[in-house]
Order: sequence, then structure tokens, then C-alpha cells
Amino acid sequence: MERRENQTPQGQIARVLVEFLEVAITCVVFLKGVYPSGAFERRRYMNVVVQRACHPQLRYYIHATVSGLLPFIQKGLVERVAVIFFNADDIPLEKFIFKLAMNLSYGSSVEEVDLQFSLRSFMSKLSVSESLTKKLPPDCRWEITAYFRSIPEAGTSKEADLWISTDTKQWQQPPLITPIKSMSSEPLCLQLYLEHPCVSESLF
Ligand SMILES: *[C@@H]1O[C@H](CO)[C@@H](O)[C@H](O)[C@H]1NC(C)=O
Repeated sequence: MERRENQTPQGQIARVLVEFLEVAITCVVFLKGVYPSGAFERRRYMNVVVQRACHPQLRYYIHATVSGLLPFIQKGLVERVAVIFFNADDIPLEKFIFKLAMNLSYGSSVEEVDLQFSLRSFMSKLSVSESLTKKLPPDCRWEITAYFRSIPEAGTSKEADLWISTDTKQWQQPPLITPIKSMSSEPLCLQLYLEHPCVSESLF
């Protein structure tokens, strides 16, 4: 009997991961201080204190963007999900990148408890990360960008049509990379790292 997609281990992981990304991205935005701290309220998630956006539009943007990735994460199409901060001239200053790798041939069922345990330790590392707590200059804006392994063809699904390509300005030189945290809990491997421009590129 064919299993429905959301009952496969990949579907199960994708659901936990999407929820995790929503919380983690909110924490990144909170820690970078783009909004006054009153824009967030403390919540508990997997027994870790996290932030939740109070502003409905902000909360919706993060929720809708990440939830929209679910069908693609499940199929292993999403390689990276980035939170990009731009200066007032629209040049990227920092990119916080969640890199995902999921073993698509893994067929055993997954203990959600184990996965949540790994994600929890991931989460608790964020608030003590130096790169995350370093404040940005004023007037920054930010957005979520997803990088696909292959582009879903337009017209194949209504979800695919929601994704548009971006014309984000590129840095002149390869970025510097600062690893923040990684975890591997078969069949999921997740890394968070920071990409920032070489010192020779003056952006501030
Ligand atoms: C993916 O999962 C399969 C089945 O459990 C396993 O045999 C294989 O080694 C895994 N591949 C990787 C790269 O971990």
C-alpha cells in the first residue's frame, strides 16, 4: 500500500522542521535587533524560552513563508533557507543560512522525540551566539530567501507558483563563513552558518 507523503519519515521531519524554522527565524530577527524588543513576547517551545512576534504581519510573514516551503522540504528540494539583512542601500550585510540535507531513501520511522531533542540543543545555542547578538546598523531591512536544489517548474503546483526569483545584489568576493551550529539526527542534517562580506568590501 502506498503511504501518503506526510506519513513518510521525510514528511514527518519536514513538519517538525518547518515549525522549528519558524521559531528559529523569529529568534534570529529578534536577536539582531531590527525591531524594538517590545515587538516580541517570550514563549516556550520544546521547553526552551523563545521569542514570538507580537505584530500580526511580522508573524504571518515568517509563518507563511516557512509553511509554504513544506512540500518542497519534504521532497528534498530545498537546500538552504536564508535570513538576509540588507543595509539602507539594499546591499546584503549578513546572511544567516540554514542548510538542510535530508536522506530521501531513509525509510524507517523517526522518533520525533529524538529529533526534537537535537533541535532543542540547536535552539539553545542561538541566543549565546556572538554573530547573532551583534547588532546591525540602523535602517536595515530583512527577508527570507529559499534556495532550491532544482527550480520547481511554474504551473506544476500552486505552491510552486508562489516562488519568484530574486535579484538580490551579490558581493564582489566570496563571503566569509562563520559556523554557528550544526546537528545530524538521521535522516536530517541541519547547519546554521553566517555569511558576511570580506572586510575589503566596505558596506557600513
Ligand atoms: C540513507 O538511508 C539509507 C537507508 O536507511 C542508508 O542505507 C544510507 O546509508 C543513508 N545515506 C546516507 C548518506 O546517510
